[in-house]
Amino acid sequence: MAVSSSQTRSFHQLSVSEQIEKLHTDGVVSEGTLEALIGGTAGLSIESADRMIENVIGTYSLPIGIAQHLLVNGTEVMVPMVVEEPSIVAALSSAAKLSRSSGGVLSIQDANILSGQIQLTDLKDVFRAEGILSEHRDRIMAIANDLIPNMVARGGGVRGVEIRPFSEAGMIIVQLHVDTCDAMGANVVNRLCENMADTLANLTGGRAVLRILSNLADHSLVTARVSIPVSHLNKDGQYSAIIARNIELASKCAELDPYRAATHNKGIFNGVDAVAIATGNDWRAIEAAGHAFAGMGIAYKPLAVWRVLNGQLIGTLCMPLKVSVVGAQIKAHPTVRIAHEILKFPTVRRLAEIMGAVGLLQNFAALRALCSDGICKGHLQRHARCEELARNSNGCTLERGNCIRKDYSSRGAWRCLWRKCRCGLFTGYAEGLGGTK
Ligand code: MEV
Repeated sequence: MAVSSSQTRSFHQLSVSEQIEKLHTDGVVSEGTLEALIGGTAGLSIESADRMIENVIGTYSLPIGIAQHLLVNGTEVMVPMVVEEPSIVAALSSAAKLSRSSGGVLSIQDANILSGQIQLTDLKDVFRAEGILSEHRDRIMAIANDLIPNMVARGGGVRGVEIRPFSEAGMIIVQLHVDTCDAMGANVVNRLCENMADTLANLTGGRAVLRILSNLADHSLVTARVSIPVSHLNKDGQYSAIIARNIELASKCAELDPYRAATHNKGIFNGVDAVAIATGNDWRAIEAAGHAFAGMGIAYKPLAVWRVLNGQLIGTLCMPLKVSVVGAQIKAHPTVRIAHEILKFPTVRRLAEIMGAVGLLQNFAALRALCSDGICKGHLQRHARCEELARNSNGCTLERGNCIRKDYSSRGAWRCLWRKCRCGLFTGYAEGLGGTK
């Protein structure tokens, strides 16, 4: 049987339409999705956009790319990522390929809880109020569960009532911990808090002010772990050991220095946000949770750490990932639906675990580049594509190399120069990993 050229080339060597066709022939997407992607009808319509938010004047597009080679808990997954920054998709694919020799990433989310807060104020005796709430804890839980019968019927519901006194402020925060099943749960939990407020105020004689979820979803933690043989980090064995040691030192730098931890975590969110956006999740909530969690100790900390042990580079990530696989945004946005199809319509837990694995490997990819040739290496390869894009978007027609010289005084050339610098700055880390896409 004749083998077509698209069968002999790897995914990243195919054209956009060949990549889409391959997704279809490999059974990843349906005929309808194939047609929508090829025909350019997979985006959000203006009518849907107009129903989504207010004062709509159009839609805003970003690229959606597919990261390859990822194994999470022994199962292959293609990862749809929506992101504007070059190299993120390629870097993840490359890191995922490297992680396969040791079984990919192990990623676990053991609970999926969203907490709601009811702030009780003007309490004359905070400790007395705390006592009353503790005494009625079971009743509070039962009343709360009665208010969300659908969630309870789906297997979710209130799992705990936490009472957090702030005596100096005459205030108690009652926290309801809700298992929200496959939903992110924001609306359910907010409504629940509003509906529980009077009950709690009456019980304590206080006044309910805030009634809203907390984005610090530290009861929805994902722990992801990867072990990469040090010898696989580079063809040169000695250099491999240096890279591994440098990654451990870079991790320790982030553990000690919040200024570095912020950048370290930004690299994690490069991957996590890209999947969150592709899958229609509230990435602001995910970012807020991650950064608040990172700052829960004495100082802001990295969400992933790296150590070298017995010839292995071991990375561990722990972060809150409260995501959703149901809801209006997911149903209403055709590209989001396609992202879920590519992910094989994951459960909420599976999606969170994939996102944890993505964050960990994205962090590894950045550190590996930073700890070997640096982030700028290889930028020349991508530079040409970025430059072409810049040229097309600002009317600068100058060739690479003489763009600045020829038109130095014009605003267009300054923009071109600025784009050159920006395009070059963050493109190194995929190439640092060998350029695998
Ligand atoms: C750039 O988008 C992300 C990095 O700065 C992350 C890091 O420094 O670890 C490369």
